[in-house]
Parts: sequence; C-alpha cells; structure tokens
Amino acid sequence: MSIAPAVSDWFARNGRDLPWRRPGFTAWGTLVSEFMLQQTPVVRVIPRLEQWLERWPTPADLAASSPGDAVRAWASLGYPRRALNLHATAVAITERHGGMVPHDVPSLLALPGVGDYTARAVAVFAYGHRHPVVDVNIRRVIARAVHGQGQPGAAARRDLDDMEELLPESLPEARLVNVSIMELGALVCTARSPRCDTCPIADQCAWRAAGYPEFTGTRAPVQKRFAGSDRQVRGLIMAELRASDMPVAPHEVRGLWAVDEQRERALAGLLADGLVVAVDGAFELPS
Ligand code: ADE
Repeated sequence: MSIAPAVSDWFARNGRDLPWRRPGFTAWGTLVSEFMLQQTPVVRVIPRLEQWLERWPTPADLAASSPGDAVRAWASLGYPRRALNLHATAVAITERHGGMVPHDVPSLLALPGVGDYTARAVAVFAYGHRHPVVDVNIRRVIARAVHGQGQPGAAARRDLDDMEELLPESLPEARLVNVSIMELGALVCTARSPRCDTCPIADQCAWRAAGYPEFTGTRAPVQKRFAGSDRQVRGLIMAELRASDMPVAPHEVRGLWAVDEQRERALAGLLADGLVVAVDGAFELPS
C-alpha cells in the first residue's frame, strides 16, 4: 500500500503552522517540544514552549539553572517529572555532548526521560534521519488504514514495522510522511469522530472498506479521571510550592486536601520522585 503521496499532499495543504515546524527551529527546541507534547495537548504546550526557549535557548542555559527553576517554569503542564528529566537531560547534553543535542537514536535514548518515541522524533524532525516515528495518532491511522481495526491494540512493535514499510526511501520524504500521518491522526482520523469525508486516503482505508467494524481487541489503558485522583492532589501540592518563595509548612500542605491518607501518599510520592524536598520540616522545590 502506498498512502505516502496522498497523505503528504494533504499535509502540504492542511498541516498546522506549529512552532516546531518552522524553518530554523533548533534541535533543542524540538527536544523540549517533544518532552512537553508527551502528555500535554498542543494548544497548552505552545505558550509554555515559547517562554521556555526564550529563557533557556540552549541546553547549557537550562543546565545552569536549578531543577526547581525548571519545575517552576513547567507550571501547569502536568506530569512534572518531565521537567526534572528535561533538566537532567540538559545537564547530560552539556556534560557528555558538548552542549549539542545528539542526533543518533542510541545516544538520545540514553538521556533521562527520553523514550523510544522521543528519540526517534528528535532524530527525524530535528536532524532529518530516516526512522519510523510512531505516536498514538500514527498507531490509530495504521490500525485503521492498514489493519482494518478501529483502534490500535496494546503492542507497538508491529506499528514500527508497518510504519517503516510506509516510508519512502528519500530522507526528506520519509520525514514528511512521518509528520503527515501524525497530523492526519490528530486532525482527521481522530479516536472518536473520524472525518472520513475529508480523508485523503479514505479510498485505501481497510477499516472503511470493511464497513467500520467495532474494535474487539485489547485496548491501551484509558487514563483515570483527574478529579479526586492522587494526580490532582500532587498537582495542588506542586502549585502551592511553585507559588511560594518560602518553604511550605506541613499545616499549609494539610490545608490543601482533606483526606489525610491520600494527601500523605501524594506528598510521599513527590518526595520520592525528587520533585519536593524536605528542609527543616518544611517543603520546597529542589534547588
Ligand atoms: N510534530 C512533531 N512532533 C509532534 C507532536 N508530538 N505533536 C504534534 N506535532 C508534532
């Protein structure tokens, strides 16, 4: 199957103008944006990314700041361990790679918080290497167009092989196909209401040809509700610490959430992750 030309044409006309797609965007910018995009939607990432890169235009700039500054600047993007990992990655790039974001997948994978997706995304989008990049949107397009299934299953290895087959040999074209299929999954081939009437590969789609069968396999786990979750409690504690210039006293933490057991569990988790440190019985961001 060759969906590459139709998807690339579609992208040229419909792809969004996003900061990390503009000419001259740095490899460091790509790495930061991919960290942020791991678990946060594009519209929330954009303003934070621009502030971040203005303040820390290179890995060395971030490495010279404290991990606590990184966590504070991460603000409300959620999952703040990413901020600590990004800081540790900036330190590693500065110390081990002369301040240059490495371009090969194994070196990228060795950086803190960089998994298979992020390593490939940086190698491809920042440096133009030829690898399949497989995120959740691409997995859904492949599940549907190639396998005739409404949703991706739990295993990801097959998707990498399938994506590899869809990529043209030429480096710039392969890069374009990666980003085009990702964008198709984000804008058209969406999880809940796919817009097949505007899809450039509708006539090649196995799921459509089969009459949109219900998905019956094992789905990837669905994210738990935020309200009332430990994640919400962690977020409240982190927001208090970010907003405070002084260490936060235990009674102030107590005032943030009424359920003792859940609050203590959240705080213990933050301490274990290194996102919060205890100093003289009070709590603050790491320095
Ligand atoms: N382009 C490159 N990586 C992306 C991502 N994670 N989300 C949206 N667009 C992207």
